[in-house]
Amino acid sequence: MRMQHEEQIALIRRALALIETGGSERGEPAVSPVSRYLDPARHEREVERIFRRHPLALCPSASLANPGDSFAIDVAGLPLLFVRGQDGQLNGFVNACRHRGARLKPPGASNQRALVCPYHSWTYALDGTLRGRPSAQDFPHAPASSCKLARVPVAEALGLVWAVPRAVAEGESAALDIDGWLGRFGGDLRGWGYDGWVPVHQRAFDNAANWKIPFEANLETYHFQYAHRDSIAPLFYDNLLMADHDRRHHRLFLPKRSIESLRGMPVHDWRVGPHSNIIYFFFPATFVLHEGDHANAFTVLPESPGRSRVIASTLIPELPTTEKSANYWRKNVESFWGALDEDFALGVSAQSTLASGAQQSLYFGATEWCSAKFHADVEAALGD
Ligand code: FES
Ligand SMILES: [Fe+2]
Repeated sequence: MRMQHEEQIALIRRALALIETGGSERGEPAVSPVSRYLDPARHEREVERIFRRHPLALCPSASLANPGDSFAIDVAGLPLLFVRGQDGQLNGFVNACRHRGARLKPPGASNQRALVCPYHSWTYALDGTLRGRPSAQDFPHAPASSCKLARVPVAEALGLVWAVPRAVAEGESAALDIDGWLGRFGGDLRGWGYDGWVPVHQRAFDNAANWKIPFEANLETYHFQYAHRDSIAPLFYDNLLMADHDRRHHRLFLPKRSIESLRGMPVHDWRVGPHSNIIYFFFPATFVLHEGDHANAFTVLPESPGRSRVIASTLIPELPTTEKSANYWRKNVESFWGALDEDFALGVSAQSTLASGAQQSLYFGATEWCSAKFHADVEAALGD
């Protein structure tokens, strides 16, 4: 169901009340030791305890629309391969041949009727079963039934492919209860129609900062009037942020100045759509900025303590068919990345000073409490 109208009204009332008093929502201030961003042993624990155990949005579903479509990507040291089966089901595999381990596909998208290893031509069906190999009689010790591609938990939701980057053990189910995991905020996005949304733009880039740093930036609005002075700041109030949480997931409501126009309108006409940005953060590393008629989503993947990789897509209800609508989306994408590039650059700047000895810890103020909660949740997940 769509985000309930009552809930939209409640968010708008909450925003208008804060605007009247010039307030914001606040939580506990916190410190963040710089070792969180630098320590290789801790980085390994984060990969093991966080990335090997939680779903991540890794590509748009629409990129794998047809049987045989595949997409390969390395995630936290694990080579993954998604393949649309003949039956329409999406399969998630470790991108590793069961013969001697070569990668079946290079990173990126392709389409094929079967997966053929480039090394000795072992050939797998789209469901990962071994279909043939040269000189099959030479492998009496490796029956085909033991040489299926290893699976990873995968599911599709909200127009995105979600996977946990870990090999499923023999006999263990690869099912992933993604709706249960995404919870009520996933319900919001489903209500906006995301299941059918398609990517109008995709981007992937290396980021010279720890994977957590981009989320610190994107879970607070303290920086808006300064870092985004020349881009999006004028659309928003100074540091006005409202937050709701479901377990370790966040929903941040950022009212735009235009929301005040609702004061004079009948409540049944109130809609959050044009008057807000809503940030959905799905623990541990997927961010979805809901902008009413479209969304910008990205996942940050850890590479090393000081490096990460960002994979991003802009999702819209349907691909443009006119030059006018293509231009409209192009402008949206440019405006989003204009602001986000400012955040990523500042994150790289921060990472570059953390080993200087200038400080042992960073500070999160009371309005940066969602960034602090993100860190507290990371700490808790390390202890799970
Ligand atoms: S490693 Fe794939 S066929 Fe030999
Ligand atoms: Fe920002």
